Amino acid sequence: MLDATLSQLETRARERIAAAATAQDLEPVRIEVLGRKGALAQVSKDLGKLPPDERARIGKLLNTVKQSLEEAMEARKSQFDAAALAARLDAEWLDLTLPAPEPERGHLHLLSQIQAELEDIFTSLGFTVLDGPEVETEYHNFDALNIPPDHPARDMQDTFWLTDGNLLRTHTSPVQVRGMERLGPPLRMIAPGRVFRNEEVDASHEHTFYQLEGMMIDREVSIAHLVYFMKTMLSEVFRREVTVRLRPGYFPFVEPGFELDIRCLLCDGQGCRVCKQSGWLEQVGCGLVHPNVLRNSGIDPEQWMGWAFGVGLTRLVMMRHAIDDIRYLQSGDLRFLRQF
Ligand code: DAH
Repeated sequence: MLDATLSQLETRARERIAAAATAQDLEPVRIEVLGRKGALAQVSKDLGKLPPDERARIGKLLNTVKQSLEEAMEARKSQFDAAALAARLDAEWLDLTLPAPEPERGHLHLLSQIQAELEDIFTSLGFTVLDGPEVETEYHNFDALNIPPDHPARDMQDTFWLTDGNLLRTHTSPVQVRGMERLGPPLRMIAPGRVFRNEEVDASHEHTFYQLEGMMIDREVSIAHLVYFMKTMLSEVFRREVTVRLRPGYFPFVEPGFELDIRCLLCDGQGCRVCKQSGWLEQVGCGLVHPNVLRNSGIDPEQWMGWAFGVGLTRLVMMRHAIDDIRYLQSGDLRFLRQF
């Protein structure tokens, strides 16, 4: 009688194993058939009631059934494992022969681009590139440049003062003095850098912007030299021949001092919105170095003379790329920067 029960149990269990759709479906079969309180355990309990030779025979049969069911379970389980592995390999498949995604290539900021170009031009003309501190002494920013304490010129440049009496440099001109102090004459130097003014920020004013200072000290220099260098610089920046003119301009550190204009690049001097109908664009402050500045920097004005200029790099960038709001340049907005 137990033969029939066992064979039924086995058939039923095999059907369930075959029907399992996942490894989890096998678990109840294992518990209900092979488990400690499962159907086979029950049969094993009933063995005790059988006569000894019957007990031995059924016992053997029970073991055979148990073993074969265990094997069937195991076999089914490895089928599931293989399928799971295959699915995973499929999902994680990687084609190592595909070209890798290109690393994204950045570029220099517009201001760095123009700075590098100008450094190239001037170094090719024999100029040294100098750097100066952004936190300056009052002496280097004003006094040494022939701007005495009560001079109204100090008000021309609204200054960020520090509590220790130093200041954020309002222009790159103090590097002229530092250059002369350190290197002495003859001297050809430029000094690009960041400057600061306590300004109300709007489309054309920033509290932080960039200038390029330049200076040449030698035995004999002339305004013609100055004009030559300025024309060379501006033609290079705007990538075409520019026409320049000098107007008198007041800067305490030069005498005579000039504002150097270029003929408007947009209307070629006809008059337009950009040049405010004048036909000219103001570009550079410049002049012959004031004897007091030479003297303050340890150079004898009887022996040496020089010219100097200061140009707004930020302004040049805006002109060159027709950018109408200065605030874009330091906004950090990549949508803007990636255009250039
Ligand atoms: N430092 C002046 C400014 O920021 C610009 C300038 C004018 C510099 C004349 C010069 C110069 O070297 O000779 O407005």
